[in-house]
Amino acid sequence: MTKLTALIIVFIALSSYTTPTSAHLRIRDPPTRRSPESSYYNQHKCISNNLASPVGFQGKFPYPCRGFARGPALKTWTAGQQIKVEIDPNANHHGGHCELAISYDEKNFAVVYQAFDRCLANCVTGNRAGCTITATLPASLPASKNAILAWSWIAREGNREYFHGCSDIEIKTTKKAKRAAKKGYTGKKMLVANYPGYPTIFEFNNTYNGAELYKRQPSITIAPSKNEKAAKITASAGGCPLPAFDMGDVSKLPKKLPVPNTPCKGNEPARCLHPEDPGLNGLLFIACDGTSWQQGSLSGGLKCVETEKGMMGYSLSAGDLKDDNNYN
Ligand SMILES: *[C@@H]1O[C@H](CO)[C@@H](O)[C@H](O)[C@H]1NC(C)=O
Repeated sequence: MTKLTALIIVFIALSSYTTPTSAHLRIRDPPTRRSPESSYYNQHKCISNNLASPVGFQGKFPYPCRGFARGPALKTWTAGQQIKVEIDPNANHHGGHCELAISYDEKNFAVVYQAFDRCLANCVTGNRAGCTITATLPASLPASKNAILAWSWIAREGNREYFHGCSDIEIKTTKKAKRAAKKGYTGKKMLVANYPGYPTIFEFNNTYNGAELYKRQPSITIAPSKNEKAAKITASAGGCPLPAFDMGDVSKLPKKLPVPNTPCKGNEPARCLHPEDPGLNGLLFIACDGTSWQQGSLSGGLKCVETEKGMMGYSLSAGDLKDDNNYN
């Protein structure tokens, strides 16, 4: 490598260097799986103290639903009603893109609410309104005792991460809405990004925020399965394991690194640049923004780790999970 290229790389890394934070945002109400606010999860000693970390944090908490087993519905809503989803304030990174989605099977999440650019930018301690998302549940959502509300958030600034949590809810329908609900609810498929195997949305600026990826999402129709039985409630006392996902086999990645600004498809894995170097270079990565390969950098305190599904940020400081009740 010439001195000049080395200098350019160092410059790119420094120009988007941001301060590390260990906690970000998470849903407070309706209580998520393993929520510290829920008496059910408290009784079962099944609390996660890392709910505000991104999915995939330290190879744990996979998408969807952070890998947590389904619990009882802790909130009942009626299709067509206005709902309030309250977020627990913490580092808000000047906001970002938010989605709320509903699922009946934990696989297909159909969007019921979107806010772009500055979603939760005013979510700070003491500003409850700024931490509250108000939405209307579509009237055509079929009733179910085992529905899931999912929230996702991609921050404007900072590490490229995907924040996501699931709350088990019951959905009721009014007599009037029952006919519309027969066909199921059709909405956009919830976007997953900044997670291994999915496209990367880079830090937003005046001309770019990655929102076109949301627009390109296909529509899906969701409905409870016809012979839906009461969902198995597995978050029982003593059975509260912490899920981890398979990090994959690096040797399956193509040997050559992608070239910046050349075309790519969204599903190509993001790669670390010089992953073996724990210093500055280990913070750099190259990822597909849905159209072309772009270089980016992780903020301090994180390291690039490559998996066959793509790169992920990994905390340099061990022990972040030590205070998670599930981690022992
Ligand atoms: C905005 O961000 C995109 C994606 O990282 C980048 O390609 C572009 O050069 C940036 N534009 C400006 C003006 O910084």
